[in-house]
Amino acid sequence: MGSSSTYSVVLNLSFLVFIFFLGSSFASFSSSSSSSSSLHPLVFNSKVQHLNYTAISEFRVVNRRFLAECPHPSPYLQISINSTTSGLGDEEFLSVNVSGVLNPSKDDWVAMISPSHSDVSSCPLNEILYAQTGDLSKLPLLCHYPVKAAYMSNDPDYLSCKKKECKQYRNGQCLVSTCGGALSFHVINIRTDIEFVLFSGGFEAPCILKRSSPVRFATPNKPLYGHLSSIDSTGTSIRLTWVSGDQKPQQVQYGDGKKQTSQVTTFSQDDMQSSALPSPAKDFGWHDPGFIHTAVMTGLKPLSSFSYRYGSDSVGWSNEIQFRTPPAGGSDELKFLAFGDMGKAPRDGSTEHYIQPGSLSVIQAMADEINSGHVDSIFHIGDISYATGFLVEWDFFLHQISPVASRVSYMTAIGNHERDYIDTGSVYITPDSGGESGVPYETYFPMPTPAKDKPWYSIEQASVHITVISTEHDWSQNSEQYQWMRRDMASVDRSKTPWLIFMGHRPMYTSAEGLLNVDPKFVFEVEPLLLQSKVDLVLFGHVHNYERTCTVYKSQCKGLPVKDKNGIDTYDHSNYSAPVHAVIGMAGFTLDKFPTGVNNPWSLSRISQFGYLRGYATKKEMKLEFVNADTRKVEDRFRITKTSTSN
Ligand SMILES: [Fe+2]
Repeated sequence: MGSSSTYSVVLNLSFLVFIFFLGSSFASFSSSSSSSSSLHPLVFNSKVQHLNYTAISEFRVVNRRFLAECPHPSPYLQISINSTTSGLGDEEFLSVNVSGVLNPSKDDWVAMISPSHSDVSSCPLNEILYAQTGDLSKLPLLCHYPVKAAYMSNDPDYLSCKKKECKQYRNGQCLVSTCGGALSFHVINIRTDIEFVLFSGGFEAPCILKRSSPVRFATPNKPLYGHLSSIDSTGTSIRLTWVSGDQKPQQVQYGDGKKQTSQVTTFSQDDMQSSALPSPAKDFGWHDPGFIHTAVMTGLKPLSSFSYRYGSDSVGWSNEIQFRTPPAGGSDELKFLAFGDMGKAPRDGSTEHYIQPGSLSVIQAMADEINSGHVDSIFHIGDISYATGFLVEWDFFLHQISPVASRVSYMTAIGNHERDYIDTGSVYITPDSGGESGVPYETYFPMPTPAKDKPWYSIEQASVHITVISTEHDWSQNSEQYQWMRRDMASVDRSKTPWLIFMGHRPMYTSAEGLLNVDPKFVFEVEPLLLQSKVDLVLFGHVHNYERTCTVYKSQCKGLPVKDKNGIDTYDHSNYSAPVHAVIGMAGFTLDKFPTGVNNPWSLSRISQFGYLRGYATKKEMKLEFVNADTRKVEDRFRITKTSTSN
């Protein structure tokens, strides 16, 4: 490329920057958030754009700021980590110690960054990307972003200077004393080395005080975060997917001396989508995912327990893990759990992008159910990790679900926060996936789908046929997906699997307020097929609470449940009238409240609490319970019965 074309690129860039500049000014004025005067004079607060674009938190736009060295830092400052010389373990609560502080401030905070070489020289191309955003500051220090952060005031002794040290004496008197504090960070093996940086100025106007030395993980190639999923309805094969820093194929060893070699895949920054504004996935949210290994264990027996371990002699092996296969399609009993919108939350009180506060108690409650042997399989129906372009958060999510997903089949549906992005073919043109556009989701959670980016499938477990769709891909009546779901549900042999459950992410019925909760076009196109296919139960997420309907069609109750002898609402589907719908998006994301005075005749139960749906199906009945994850109490229960299996 000659100098004239270089010139034109520069001109175009300047134009882009100018346009953006205007946009930034307008957005700053039209926003209630204040524009910080501490920003570089050429940098308008880009927070508004990035909040609009990616729904990211204030913490996550820190790296869009001019990050200066703080004026007059204490010459005694130290930041250090308690770690062994061999490196970090796969999971640690790491103590980060700060000392030598002359004036402790409530604005002092510590960020964990990874990889540790996140500096200007390491990402020269970002300069162009950043210029597009109107950010003309010198490149931010944290060009790879902070994984998490915490204020020093989280240590109750920091501001009051209980940890005093004398740095200078004269005649036995202390002339200069300093303060210090310590923070605990929950760190898991994310393969790339990490560093802790002490800032002052809060998140609004950060300046750098001191950086720690980088610290490595002892075994960055360690096989980790194994999770199971069904590949078919036989209950005799199950897929294991795991993460490692090593590209060479590894093995899963299981049962009595069986083994399978892994297929290895990954995705790169080039696979992430972006638009006029860089997406987090493509830009400052990127983190190398290492390699994703997957292998199918075959020759198993349904509803049986086996053990497995995965890895290789060169990178090491996982612990021996006990798991249970799901029941084969056509058998009688299924015990399952279902929920949507779980995400993840930090275990150390730190701040990170997009925290789902209920997720930890829900995972704990489900893990306890699995330990007591009461679960055959799990369904997570969209809005999985909420990484939304901050790729390291997939590792944290996979770590979080390990106690359940490594033990039973963990099946998923795609949600807006995995798939949606501008100009990428999603039905909804929103930036909700932060540029991921389904690529990390499909890599981490391979389901028995027809092809890449066609994330719909069905599976049979015991007496239940489960049809899982993507509400984020075309579902209109001429679409490939619609034609597939029509054929799939028409082909169900109801004498083998009397129950038909339909699952997806966005609901057709909710009493929660919110203009975009229900898409009337989706309801118009797909609801008639549910009735025609005699779907028994419809499960959706997206709205963050629990709600159950009558048997409903076109917003009219076609039938009401009757109380059985135990006072439990019972729907008799021997005389089928319409599906029962339940919204179950209450597994982690901040709850949606119901407005007072809901007057929807189709709405029979509304609960805004964290929890999950517990299902038990035989050929004669399905029992469904909404379990509060904190109290473990059943807050709603209903049954669907069938005396004949011809429907
Ligand atoms: Fe959603």
